[in-house]
Amino acid sequence: MSDEREVLRTQAYGGSAKLRARQALWAFGEDQPATSRVTRAHRLSGAETIVDVGCGHGADLRALRRDGHRGPLIGVDFSVGMLAELEPTVADPVLADALALPLASGVADVVLAMHMLYHLGDIPAALIEFRRVLRRDGVFIASTNSVTSAPELIEPWSEAMVELGGPSFGGGSGHRFSVENGAGILGSVFGAVKLREVEGVFRVPEARIVRDYVASTDDLNEPMLPDHEAWEAVLDQVAAHAQSVIDREGCFTVTARGGIFVCRR
Ligand SMILES: C[S@@+](CC[C@H](N)C(=O)[O-])C[C@H]1O[C@@H](n2cnc3c(N)ncnc32)[C@H](O)[C@@H]1O
Repeated sequence: MSDEREVLRTQAYGGSAKLRARQALWAFGEDQPATSRVTRAHRLSGAETIVDVGCGHGADLRALRRDGHRGPLIGVDFSVGMLAELEPTVADPVLADALALPLASGVADVVLAMHMLYHLGDIPAALIEFRRVLRRDGVFIASTNSVTSAPELIEPWSEAMVELGGPSFGGGSGHRFSVENGAGILGSVFGAVKLREVEGVFRVPEARIVRDYVASTDDLNEPMLPDHEAWEAVLDQVAAHAQSVIDREGCFTVTARGGIFVCRR
């Protein structure tokens, strides 16, 4: 696990380029909501102190400011490269691991863990740490994917991995904390857990975007294959599949399924 942590910290999330390559695919949604996903999941007054753990380059924090949030925002991430892109005018950057937050107990009205819990080796320990920094009546919000998300992409990708000598690919570490098992994991630390499920259809116009998405996961997935050529062949095969769908249907449609958990003590 600690090897995986270092690969995540210094390579997969060493900078924002690979995360942004995946976010580029999610820009082709049919409906782009006007407000941030956090505001939609939980009504905010705008004055709360919010700690976003695993904030990445700060997309949710920026979106909260766009929604008019006035209260203190703190962005925590263990990657120097990610935090370097978080504007200090948006949020205070804190370089730290999710399991040891350098924050006083009870300082936060809201703690966020958006699409990051599945990266942690000890999720319950992190949840206990998040609960520590929350006020007694504070709210913990976590987002993640469903294990059934993006079948149009995961199925051909998994087939290509097997054909090129790797294991069946089922979405990687995402299964550690998913829409399906999340309530059970969160319920071990929080008394009340509510799930808001989200589904979106994304119509991707270019195979290059699909190839870049898969390529961005190289740090964790390429080592499962015999060599670099096999990984390149996986990318080519997934891109060729996407291109054949685009030629036939005009776009490569991806159905993303996920959810946002809102938890209280
Ligand atoms: C998939 S990205 C999500 C970024 C952002 N929350 C979002 O939803 O756009 C996961 C983020 O969690 C961070 N992360 C992963 N494990 C972490 C840990 N143990 N402590 C702090 N940050 C961590 C990564 O550096 C990365 O920025």
